[in-house]
Amino acid sequence: MAGTVFFSVSMSLDGFMAPGSAGELMGRQWMELQGWVFPTRFFRENLGLGPGGEEGRDDDLVRATFARTGASVMGRRMFDAGERMWPEEAPFHTPVFVVTHDRRDPWERPGGTTFHFVDDGIEAALDRARAAAGDRDVRIAGGGETILQYLNAGLVDEFSVAVSPVLLGSGIRLFEGVDAERVALEPVRSESSPRVTHLTYAVRAR
Ligand SMILES: NC(=O)c1ccc[n+]([C@@H]2O[C@H](COP(=O)([O-])OP(=O)(O)OC[C@H]3O[C@@H](n4cnc5c(N)ncnc54)[C@H](OP(=O)(O)O)[C@@H]3O)[C@@H](O)[C@H]2O)c1
Repeated sequence: MAGTVFFSVSMSLDGFMAPGSAGELMGRQWMELQGWVFPTRFFRENLGLGPGGEEGRDDDLVRATFARTGASVMGRRMFDAGERMWPEEAPFHTPVFVVTHDRRDPWERPGGTTFHFVDDGIEAALDRARAAAGDRDVRIAGGGETILQYLNAGLVDEFSVAVSPVLLGSGIRLFEGVDAERVALEPVRSESSPRVTHLTYAVRAR
């Protein structure tokens, strides 16, 4: 269904979507959490790392997630981390709306990604993302605080979690603070690859 609002993240088996400290970014725990993505052919292509990489179910899924996304929304902390890490040609290739309390002019990158900074709330960011996405979907890219606000506001239609075979023990818990009285789930799909288990749910209001 065009116009679906979704998120798709990696999560440790104990429920964390990021390790405890920012210093861990790209550290061992981060690599274990995201380790299923890095070997895919799509990951290499999208970051301009050259040929190679694995085909197969994980590759198909990341490719399909990218293809369905017409615009993304992300929190400021995810943006701040990415601003340091992404190559000049940022890996979105669509408009990205960053929810923040700060004002900043749009930041256009080569390759089709423009970051727009939205300081009037999550609904305004989503409205702009929907308009930019056209007949494609809107991805709430992360991080945890931002995903949770959209989920609790009833603005997420569907989500996928790639459950990685790692225990982090601490960090940013994906569903910490979820409004369990409001958010109900319906299973859509589950499948395993040799590296990870992909779970997809539709979100329903209770
Ligand atoms: N596992 C995965 O697949 C995955 C995917 C994506 C991200 N991540 C990880 O998630 C982490 C970041 O998540 P996070 O929960 O710390 O932060 P986040 O959701 O990325 O950003 C939170 C920040 O966004 C701004 N913000 C959020 N809601 C707002 C609102 N309603 N109005 C105005 N500003 C708002 C605020 O920043 P200001 O007040 O400073 O403007 C807030 O501090 C990173 O470590 C990233 O690597 C993991």
